[in-house]
Amino acid sequence: MDNVYSSTHPLVAHKLTRLRDRTTDPRTFRELVREIAVLLTYEATADLNLRPRLVETPLAPFNGAEVLERIGLVPILRAGLGMVDGVWELLPSAEVWHIGLYRDERTLKPVEYYNKLPIEPTVSLCLVLDPMLATGGSAAATVDILKRWGVRRIKFVGLIAAPEGIARLHQAHPEVPIHIAAIDERLNERGYILPGLGDAGDRQFGTG
Ligand code: PRP
Ligand code: URA
Repeated sequence: MDNVYSSTHPLVAHKLTRLRDRTTDPRTFRELVREIAVLLTYEATADLNLRPRLVETPLAPFNGAEVLERIGLVPILRAGLGMVDGVWELLPSAEVWHIGLYRDERTLKPVEYYNKLPIEPTVSLCLVLDPMLATGGSAAATVDILKRWGVRRIKFVGLIAAPEGIARLHQAHPEVPIHIAAIDERLNERGYILPGLGDAGDRQFGTG
């Protein structure tokens, strides 16, 4: 499918396997979420626009470059929070805008509970961060919110996707690239990704 990038990096495969392991404790789980988010963001930002920047080295002038875009990191609460810190180290001048959504357990539809975006957009490129793309409802709703805010360029960065979630996000927003560590088999009857890793929020925050 166009615009879907599933990482083939060996370090991602190694770390994701440890993340899936049910015996991985919350502290290690958080470290792995952070590390995989960095590796995926490195791949997802390969096409950032640059502008020229002249600097002086101690010996001579140098015609270099700097990132042109104003970048917003948009973690979907709660589970997306664990992806922020590592990505922020790669992109230290990024703004962080939180979107609070939870999935209604019965309907599996996203319910919005936190959104403090100002009226005018302050960024030109948003990276939506959420480890799990299950039905795709939460990601699609977040992209809806960001488009209404006026953001022109949006990318989704996640850890594990179900084919159903990719199809839903892609159908709703075909121009949004999906960067993911792995595409799993399917959803179970409760909307969980199989084989997946269980509940990403609970495993990070020790609330399961
Ligand atoms: C999880 C996950 C996504 C959503 C994915 O969050 O972090 O946001 O479910 O499911 P979807 O693709 O079917 O919408 P959850 O609602 O469990 O909230 P939490 O992060 O607060 O635990
Ligand atoms: N949310 C999760 O945390 N895990 C899933 O498998 C699906 C939704």
